Amino acid sequence: MAEIKTPTPHIAARRGEIAETILLPGDPLRAKYIADHFLEDAVQFNATRNMFGFTGTYRGKPVSVMGTGMGCPSIGIYSYELIHAYGCKNLIRVGTAGAMQPHVKIRDMVFGMGACTDSRYVRQFRLPGDYSCICSFGLLEKAVAAAQAKGLTCHVGNILSSDVFYNPDLPPAGKTWAEMGVLAVEMEAAALYSNAAAAGVNALCILTVSDSLVTGESTTAEERQTTFTNMMEVALELV
Ligand code: HPA
Repeated sequence: MAEIKTPTPHIAARRGEIAETILLPGDPLRAKYIADHFLEDAVQFNATRNMFGFTGTYRGKPVSVMGTGMGCPSIGIYSYELIHAYGCKNLIRVGTAGAMQPHVKIRDMVFGMGACTDSRYVRQFRLPGDYSCICSFGLLEKAVAAAQAKGLTCHVGNILSSDVFYNPDLPPAGKTWAEMGVLAVEMEAAALYSNAAAAGVNALCILTVSDSLVTGESTTAEERQTTFTNMMEVALELV
């Protein structure tokens, strides 16, 4: 694995200041919220571009948390540096998604077993076909067990990492993602999963459904907070 020098262009930490397990919300203020409310003895390691990152402990175990920004290019940069410069081994995205199936309700959790994508990010690996971006089975198994133990509804399956949030509603050329069983849409998992696979490390994307493309419903700010706390309880079981 190619190692890159620290500090990197986007992360101001020195090697050793970031834990092997890192939680990755899209929003850097979410990272600060997680550090303040869920971690002990959290120390900030990054503020470059206000992409806040912290390392602390959870039940005595070291864990870091850092924002990724939105989209495959942004999480692609941060996850690459976290893996290759800082030695991160377990990268867990915690985010929101839009439901694409009627049985996936707002407030539910979705674990991305696979991530389809309309992004060109994965093409960098120049594979002779379409790569299946998949999560770490070990992390997924633990996340499912944690959600079940807490009585939380979770769906496990394919998600779509799309480059386009404001998607023009064009008729598809062939099948729709929903017709292929894709559960929900977000914007980052495919880049995270392919970077992790290329480096031989573990990744998982845990989502709460913030809105439904099927019904047009969306969660209130209060509901987003509650579902976020549920998702964090699952994510922290992976530390
Ligand atoms: N699209 C992409 N990302 C999202 C969405 C969506 O509808 N909802 C939450 N994250």
